[in-house]
Amino acid sequence: MHANDLELHAQGRSVFVDDIVPPVGLLHAFPVVSTIAHGLIASIDFSEALACSGVASIVTAADIPGVNNIGNVEANEVLLAEQTVMYQGQPIAVVVAESESEARHAAALVQINYRELPAVFDAREAHRQGLHIAPPRIFSLGDVEQAWQTCDDIIEGKTQSGAQEHVYLETQTALAYPLENGGLRVVSATQSPGMVQRVIARVLNLAMTQVEVDVLRLGGGFGGKEEQATTWAAIAALAASRLQRPVKIRLSRSDDMRWTGKRHPYDADFKIGLTRSGKILAYEVSFYQNAGAVADLSLAILERTLFHASNSYFIPNLRATAVSCRTHLPPNTAFRGFGGPQAMFVLESAIFKAAAALQIDTAEIQRLNLLQEGQAFPYGMPATECRAGLCWERLQEKHALSRRQQAINDFNASHRLEKKALALMPICFGISFTATFLNQAGALVHVYADGSVGVSCGAVEMGQGVKQKIRNIVALTFSIVSDRVKVESTNTSRIANMSPTAASVGADLNGQATSLACRQILQGLKKVAAGLLDIEAEADKIAIEQERVHFNGQPTAIGWNQLISDAYLSRTALSAHAHYATPGVYFDRSKEQGRPFAYHVYGCAAIEVTVDCLRGIYRIDEVVIVHDGGKSLAPEVDLGQVEGGLMQGLGWMTIEDIRHDSQGRLLNDTLTAYKIPDIHFAPEINVEFLAKDNPAAILHSKAVGEPPFMYGIGVYFALVKAIQAFNPAFEPEFSAPMTPEKVLLALYSET
Ligand code: MTE
Ligand code: HPA
Ligand code: MOS
Repeated sequence: MHANDLELHAQGRSVFVDDIVPPVGLLHAFPVVSTIAHGLIASIDFSEALACSGVASIVTAADIPGVNNIGNVEANEVLLAEQTVMYQGQPIAVVVAESESEARHAAALVQINYRELPAVFDAREAHRQGLHIAPPRIFSLGDVEQAWQTCDDIIEGKTQSGAQEHVYLETQTALAYPLENGGLRVVSATQSPGMVQRVIARVLNLAMTQVEVDVLRLGGGFGGKEEQATTWAAIAALAASRLQRPVKIRLSRSDDMRWTGKRHPYDADFKIGLTRSGKILAYEVSFYQNAGAVADLSLAILERTLFHASNSYFIPNLRATAVSCRTHLPPNTAFRGFGGPQAMFVLESAIFKAAAALQIDTAEIQRLNLLQEGQAFPYGMPATECRAGLCWERLQEKHALSRRQQAINDFNASHRLEKKALALMPICFGISFTATFLNQAGALVHVYADGSVGVSCGAVEMGQGVKQKIRNIVALTFSIVSDRVKVESTNTSRIANMSPTAASVGADLNGQATSLACRQILQGLKKVAAGLLDIEAEADKIAIEQERVHFNGQPTAIGWNQLISDAYLSRTALSAHAHYATPGVYFDRSKEQGRPFAYHVYGCAAIEVTVDCLRGIYRIDEVVIVHDGGKSLAPEVDLGQVEGGLMQGLGWMTIEDIRHDSQGRLLNDTLTAYKIPDIHFAPEINVEFLAKDNPAAILHSKAVGEPPFMYGIGVYFALVKAIQAFNPAFEPEFSAPMTPEKVLLALYSET
């Protein structure tokens, strides 16, 4: 009955914001943005722009009836700049015109004079200047100072990992309609409809009930629309409210690349101490996060960096310090992994450098230190159902890694200008929002008189298949075919106070709420069935299986359609709303201890590369993964998530190289200059799922969205090893991405 998103996408029938038929009277908004990184606005002259044909109005901060604030942390997170600008691309005003091209043309004619102020673009420099978003945070376990005394070797170093552009296919966009009551209906490409609603209400001085936000689906989000879709939705809403006409805004690819935030670049210092055999005794790390100009989600991301400082290893003495540094770049934001990958890159670098110093295999150090059942994470939570060792061993066995390594050695011995290498990458990722209060969800289920089922919940579909999972949960709970189930758009009038679809828990949270609502309805249905079967007293022996009422395990004559029709005629509730809150999660920031996650996802990848030692180009030959999945709610979706996450991780470590000029202007603002992995870049990917039951999530499934990203980190070390097979003198700088340009320089470097 209901086509799923995959079918609609394949047929080109799926509707995105920009596909919505333009409403009568539609106006188009285009922002006037800062062309400097930091300064004061001395004067603005709108006269030329206002005289342009088609221009209806130019909206500024002075037109905001409520509060000029779109963030959750700092007062400076403004929708439109007032006196100060803090990054190139910061919106200052909004031109509203009859067409997008007229709006864009007029925006270019706005004259702004600035008084420039000093700008900083580098996290360490910002740190030196004391430019912090918040004071540093420290996680610790054991006693590192004492532990250094007992180490056979202590290795220190620095690392750097770069920004990453989300490259969602659908750029930032929103369409706002004024409503009769002074309120608005906003169709927004956001992962956080609830936040968009709340922020628009705040900006426009409306009650949240006056703002309806609706999301049909996104053309990808990857974290880039968790916080940063709000700006564009609020701009459309402000303009629609001012002009009392529908207003749309959509960014071109280049505008989106230049004006929106990316994955946070990190700098780090590490110190690692080991025994001669490779047991890690102590690890000290300082993270310098490049937050960009305002807080955005940086502090939550920084916190997750701390949570993942030890990845899937047990390190008895650890001290991790992290600070978010304010720079004059667009505010960096959520991106798959949410600060976790940045932490893991540092520890893998430390292990790699330690292996070289101790002259043992990196993999040996990795294996020796894998987290075991019951060992504690530095934040106090013990590892339970720990699969670090299991994934590692399964990968070794199944893929005969020692034989592969031998084959690689043989290849390298017989090839002068081509070198291969293999690296392993274990992962461990905590599942739950680190902000405990976000771990809640609501769902509203309607069973219609014809037996079809409509579900509203807080999950936003962005390609990760959450709606397919929700559909399957409904189908399994009622034991009906999934074709009967329609998952509605994500809408703030149907579901209140929804959390973002993020932290990989979209299906976990919304699936639980949906299942609870279905089970409420099921209770009533069983009573109806008991009445029909005239067995009032034995309702507990009634079940629905494969669209048929069963009694005592035996099928009866009553099918789903009849049951629903009778339930309706007997005035039984066929709708239910339910709320779910993840049990048992808490965190005490005063002690940096708690149980922040419902559970962890583990896994291990083996990544094999070949470097062309004449040209510096390389190929990722194969990636083999053993992934700790649960009982899958949609196996094909989970496989796609592992493959897609891996590809994004590989891109971050290799070819995705964000560059700014000395004034903070993005240099590669097109997809010809900023390269992301394509099908030719893709290795053979071989994934095995453990498929163990996970008691901590809906129907024993396991979240899958973000963890596979971190497998990609291994490619950096595979490339370094391959380079070293050609040039043993090469010492890596642990500065990602490892672009072909860097590989070429490394192949012929003398240190
Ligand atoms: N997969 C696709 N195709 N598109 C996306 O935007 N976002 C990722 C991941 N997988 C994303 C994706 C991110 S950052 C997260 S947090 C999760 O999906 C969110 O969805 P989930 O909670 O339903 O897994
Ligand atoms: N992941 C994604 N978004 C978030 C988180 C998280 O852990 N915490 C708060 N917002
Ligand atoms: Mo994902 S970075 O939590 O949207």
